[in-house]
Amino acid sequence: MNNPSPASQRGGDSEASIKRGLWSSRMAFVLAATGSAVGLGNIWKFPYVTGENGGGAFVLVYLFCIAAVGLPIMMAEILIGRRGGASPIRSMGQITRRDGHHRAWGLAAVIGVLAAFLILSFYSMIGGWAVSYISTSATGQLTGLSADAIGEIFSGLLGNPWALLGWHTLFMALVVFVVIRGLRGGLERAVTILMPALFVLLLIVVGYAMTTGHFGEGVAFLFQPDFSGLTTAGVLVALGHAFFTLSLGMAVMMAYGSYLSKNVSIAKTSIVVSVMDTGVALLAGLAIFPIVFANGLEPGAGPGLIFQTLPLAFGQMPWGSLFGTLFFILLTFAAWTSAISLLEPVVEWLEEKKGMSRGKSTIGAGIACWLLGIVSILSLNVWSDVTPLGMFAMFEGKTIFDLLDFVTASVMLPLAGLLVALFAGWIMTREALQNELAMSARSFSLWYGIIRYVTPVAVAVVFIYNLL
Ligand code: TRP
Repeated sequence: MNNPSPASQRGGDSEASIKRGLWSSRMAFVLAATGSAVGLGNIWKFPYVTGENGGGAFVLVYLFCIAAVGLPIMMAEILIGRRGGASPIRSMGQITRRDGHHRAWGLAAVIGVLAAFLILSFYSMIGGWAVSYISTSATGQLTGLSADAIGEIFSGLLGNPWALLGWHTLFMALVVFVVIRGLRGGLERAVTILMPALFVLLLIVVGYAMTTGHFGEGVAFLFQPDFSGLTTAGVLVALGHAFFTLSLGMAVMMAYGSYLSKNVSIAKTSIVVSVMDTGVALLAGLAIFPIVFANGLEPGAGPGLIFQTLPLAFGQMPWGSLFGTLFFILLTFAAWTSAISLLEPVVEWLEEKKGMSRGKSTIGAGIACWLLGIVSILSLNVWSDVTPLGMFAMFEGKTIFDLLDFVTASVMLPLAGLLVALFAGWIMTREALQNELAMSARSFSLWYGIIRYVTPVAVAVVFIYNLL
């Protein structure tokens, strides 16, 4: 399949893409990209980082980052993928060779693949939490419990490395199972049904949240900016989360873009994906914070936030066990489709670089991620006091899991994103960009200005502030 000779790849994008097959429709691409974007980032991470960073002001910065940094970079990644017509690392190489740029730009894709690997290791552990809550809800264990009792169920799970290991193993096996069969198999169909279902279930929980009598408080927490609660570190988290939630900085959108047909508008597609992703995150926030306030819980409770609030809601609402079970099934699916997109670039890299078969690459990468995931599991219990970089004020009290999350989401993703923005804005030719984006002159200039100036400056400023 993969022709190693660059000369024969010169023929152009269409040739390469035809060889690799395309998405069956624009809708299929939108669904797959949304399936990757909508995941634990929206439902698990967004509420808890918002809670930790004081609410409204953080949300405002996050929305700005989505619009001014995330969306333009998503367009850049998709266009690079489509123009290169190959796997991410190869696509960047392809474009640099064809258009005579320095090969070092391929580094962006390399950072991305490494970040994918690191993220998947702990993503799978959190995915495992979601799976375990399917059975906790289905067996009715959450019904009518107090906030304290629910908190104990959660800390019981985190304190039990063997249980965590079991769920982590199950989750990773699910991911490997799909990736081994290639990207397009069941993915399109699964996403078509599951994404809308997740949306409806979130709406049901929001409906419940409205009955708690604290809905207004939740809305105010999310949408009334109070900048006194926001630190510069919080701004970095917002920026990093914009990358994380849109699946940027890791070449996933490049990989998906390479299967995209020429006559699809990259801009419109990216806007649809970003809006859906942001919509799910805000809905999750609206579902969770009223429950937090109604039960006197702590918005800054950290990574366990949704596992301590949503079960409360399900424990109290009519048909709660049913809705709860459904919800955690859908959360598992959302995490699953995202995790698939995290493993895919690693597998493609092994296939191309090491010449391994798909089966071997997938199993090899899966096992390596699974092993690394054990480190995150242990850092919640046995190693909860181990803070390897604790001597630096910035990392005080951060466990290995916290550090992995920080290094990937807040450092590697924005860094890779910065390289993508610079590559698209300053290295690729204007003709190449215009040709791919095919937008009106006005919209193109707007995007071009943003990707050349706004995006790199925003990322650089946030970084530098945090280093000082
Ligand atoms: N976007 C996913 C989420 O919000 C996580 C994810 C999947 C991701 N693929 C990615 C993050 C690629 C960064 C890069 O849960």
